[in-house]
Amino acid sequence: MSLLSKICNCECSLTNAFLWTALAVGIIKVTRSALSFFTIILESYILPGVNFAKYGANKGNWAVITGASDGIGKEYAFQLAKKGFNIVLVSRTQSKLEIVAKEIETKFKKETKIIAFDASTDAPENYELLSKSLQGLPVTILINNVGQSHSIPVSFLDTTDEEMSQIITLNNIVTLKVTKVVAPIIESTIGDKKKVHGLILTMGSFAGLVPTPYLGVYSGSKAFLQNWSASLAGELKSKNIDVELVISYLVASAMSKIKRSSFTIPNPKQFVSATLKNVGRRVGAQERFATITPYPSHALMHWGIESFIGVYSKIVNKINLDMHKSIRIRALKRAARLEAEKKQL
Ligand SMILES: NC(=O)c1ccc[n+]([C@@H]2O[C@H](COP(=O)([O-])OP(=O)(O)OC[C@H]3O[C@@H](n4cnc5c(N)ncnc54)[C@H](OP(=O)(O)O)[C@@H]3O)[C@@H](O)[C@H]2O)c1
Repeated sequence: MSLLSKICNCECSLTNAFLWTALAVGIIKVTRSALSFFTIILESYILPGVNFAKYGANKGNWAVITGASDGIGKEYAFQLAKKGFNIVLVSRTQSKLEIVAKEIETKFKKETKIIAFDASTDAPENYELLSKSLQGLPVTILINNVGQSHSIPVSFLDTTDEEMSQIITLNNIVTLKVTKVVAPIIESTIGDKKKVHGLILTMGSFAGLVPTPYLGVYSGSKAFLQNWSASLAGELKSKNIDVELVISYLVASAMSKIKRSSFTIPNPKQFVSATLKNVGRRVGAQERFATITPYPSHALMHWGIESFIGVYSKIVNKINLDMHKSIRIRALKRAARLEAEKKQL
């Protein structure tokens, strides 16, 4: 065989190997995406909900919920009471907590406890009060729900030091310190009851999933929770405590300032119902350990971004930047209009 034909043969087999490898990689990628898509459909619409007997429902056990006086937290309180837990309601406004407690006691015939403090102060007394109030209670569930975002989208350099500190304190420091108080209580409650698990859910956000210009501090604080929560999940797994970060796109609430729900924006009741139905599963967060994106349309969005664009891609960053710049302009216009109306009165 001539040297030329030997080179030709060698090039052909290299090209063939390259094409076969590319095809195999493509098939693996498409199969993975298709499988995770079908898992989302299965978990969202077909599988039955998780049975909360696993967490000691209807056995006199308690769930502790932060930010429980409004929005998503209030709904966690109602739905966990309905599932058979007594509820510790932690939040800032005593009067709002009293109304929630009364509704739980009359509607679901469950016991409640109220703990009111301004968590943004990060005062040691807050955690002492929490610890004292929980003494002797068989707690099996903690919902780390309290959180704060920017009042309106704002560039990082224009974010006030006060807003920056409040977001980091409430979303991160408070979440960590509350967990330090409550997790050991859960551990001792489940103790040697081998069949009962503990549960710690922490509210994440799409802003933590994808970098979000003009909500930079909030975005960073929620991304922090992703790694912290998944690390904790690893540490507490052998102790039968399930730890999960809950990722959500917009939900109609005081924080989002959205009143009407839609296909992509559930109300708190729909959101919490989807979350509790699938605790322990991943729904839209197929690629992440100890993480759930529970609401069906949010799950599809998470899957789409992750599979086709990439959470850290330039394009997602740009879309987010443009969207939040435009929300800021509209929010400023609205504030100016309200100010003008106030002056006319
Ligand atoms: N809504 C969304 O679109 C969305 C999307 C993704 C993730 N999330 C996350 O979901 C969680 C709940 O959000 P949400 O929309 O339900 O909020 P929300 O309706 O504004 O409710 C916030 C709750 O936190 C309490 N709270 C706020 N500041 C506090 C403070 N300094 N000390 C103690 N309690 C305080 C509030 O108490 P008061 O009643 O006293 O105000 C209220 O109970 C947050 O972690 C948020 O980041 C929300």
